[in-house]
Amino acid sequence: MAQQKLIKKYAVFGNPIEHSLSPSIHGYFAQKHNINLSYEKILCDEDKFEVELRKFFDSGGLGCNITLPFKRKAFLFVEEKSDVAKITGAVNTISKKNDIYFGDNTDGAGFIRDLKENINFDISEKRVLILGAGGASMGIIPNIFLEKPKSLKILNRTLDNAKSLVKRFSSIGNINYVEKSDLSENKFDLIINATSQGMNQNSFDLPSEIFCDDSIFYDLSYGKASTNMKNWAEENNIKFFDGLGMLIEQAADSFLIWEGERPNTTEELRNILIKEL
Ligand code: ATR
Repeated sequence: MAQQKLIKKYAVFGNPIEHSLSPSIHGYFAQKHNINLSYEKILCDEDKFEVELRKFFDSGGLGCNITLPFKRKAFLFVEEKSDVAKITGAVNTISKKNDIYFGDNTDGAGFIRDLKENINFDISEKRVLILGAGGASMGIIPNIFLEKPKSLKILNRTLDNAKSLVKRFSSIGNINYVEKSDLSENKFDLIINATSQGMNQNSFDLPSEIFCDDSIFYDLSYGKASTNMKNWAEENNIKFFDGLGMLIEQAADSFLIWEGERPNTTEELRNILIKEL
């Protein structure tokens, strides 16, 4: 009797999770690498996260992605972690090897790779502004510093949160907060929306003085959440990119951690995902 090929079991945990594109991305990678893989979406309540995670690995799970709101909980759960996970304080990729849970964070590397490889934007010596001071900002800051920007400023609705973020990362790079009233005295080459809110047009009024001819605006969100931002950028002639490229690149890095091979991140995959948005 022909032996059935082993199905490798992966998953993504989050809440909400229904619209996650990760199963399609990893399904695509697996097909290209001829790997028999299952990748399920696991919705869980905050208080059940650890229990569900253990259940998944106890039933043969090899690795999982973690999305909102569990990245911090995942960081606290794992027994060993990568340097980037340690600095960000968040984990988006878990693997279990030799009975040890290992946590990594591929968000920042995914963001940088999308900028460098797909958009052809080099952060080195550039002036960077991040909107937002929550988990998404923390996830990308260490990798931004590795690229040696000229400066990094944080603008946030709640000034105290911007100040805490600056304090957290000031030992690893040139980072400051900026207040909205002082914003127009600055120019930026790269502006990143890392707020959790796809901002509505009314609340979004960055002064035009902060943009140069070659400035780009990168929204970490994608799909419907970034539609208003995209429209705003188009109306103001600002080069705009959404976070779909980052999503694909961070997934490829997770796949590399689990399977030892980094899949190609193709235009074909991007087009498949756009149809699902
Ligand atoms: P996370 O779980 O990623 O930390 P969060 O705490 O809900 O998400 O918010 C992330 C960032 O989005 C925060 O900087 C938040 O600003 P505050 O620090 O002032 O809370 C920002 N944010 C959320 N909604 C916003 C809105 N409507 N306008 C501007 N900023 C917003």
